[in-house]
Amino acid sequence: MKPRCIQPGNGTRMQYCLAMLALIWYVFKTTIPSNGFGNRFASMIIAGNWKMNLTRQEAVALTTAVIPAASDNLGIILFPPSILIDTVRDHLASGNGNGGEGIALGGQDSHAAASGPHTGDIAAPMLREAGCTWVLLGHSERRADHGETSAMVAAKAVQAIAHDLAPMICVGESLDDRQSGRAGDVVEHQLRDSLTGVEPGACFAIAYEPIWAIGTGKTAGSDDIAQMHGHIRSVLTSINADHAGVPILYGGSVKPGNAGDIFDQQHVDGALVGGASLDADQFLSIIRSARSRA
Ligand code: PGA
Repeated sequence: MKPRCIQPGNGTRMQYCLAMLALIWYVFKTTIPSNGFGNRFASMIIAGNWKMNLTRQEAVALTTAVIPAASDNLGIILFPPSILIDTVRDHLASGNGNGGEGIALGGQDSHAAASGPHTGDIAAPMLREAGCTWVLLGHSERRADHGETSAMVAAKAVQAIAHDLAPMICVGESLDDRQSGRAGDVVEHQLRDSLTGVEPGACFAIAYEPIWAIGTGKTAGSDDIAQMHGHIRSVLTSINADHAGVPILYGGSVKPGNAGDIFDQQHVDGALVGGASLDADQFLSIIRSARSRA
């Protein structure tokens, strides 16, 4: 069969169109921060914080179970220990077409510097190179175990964003703060200090995790969650109107039994799940709850 002939004129026009498309794509990629969800936030985000858990084999089995749960109207992020990121990334890639491409990867921390003499730490560009689009910052366990302050979290967030990673910045009060009525003030200070230097338009999320609810089986009451998420939304908006739509996730003993009630609260845009994210059945059940409300 004779090949279809492209007229010189058409060819030139086509080359011009292709060049314009390439330019638009380049500008889009380089100016809009990415979060692994096609440069927009999914309406609900369910994130699994694996903390310092799982063998390589267990990580592969869990990833295999989660891959089919990916869907367009829900963002799923896995935060494995950094040594397992490559394995999980490769496994997600092998699940391309089945949903693997719809699941984003994140690191559990990244340093405020891009490289240098910081034994044991990991840098934002390393996570990016490994295929991460997210990083958890300021988790209360890191604040407690490593003495991280909100100022340090802000420096890490700025560095992460500079390397096209979306930080998920964790805030939350202690039991003492809550019982003495200081929870709102404590969270507001954490937010303001952890976001210093984060430019309007940057891609990030907030995870509200009351410290006393993490890994304890205790969850904040629905009213407290709704009230705190509303407070966080108004603090974000007062820092910069551009931050108004930032996703606010709840974390702290989220389980299949309480997830639906949590997701029904206003300003709850998903969950950061620890213990239950290590169990495929529980994690999938939480994902289903979120999807039915997305
Ligand atoms: P948990 O952990 O679900 O086990 O309470 C949540 C977290 O620390 O992110």
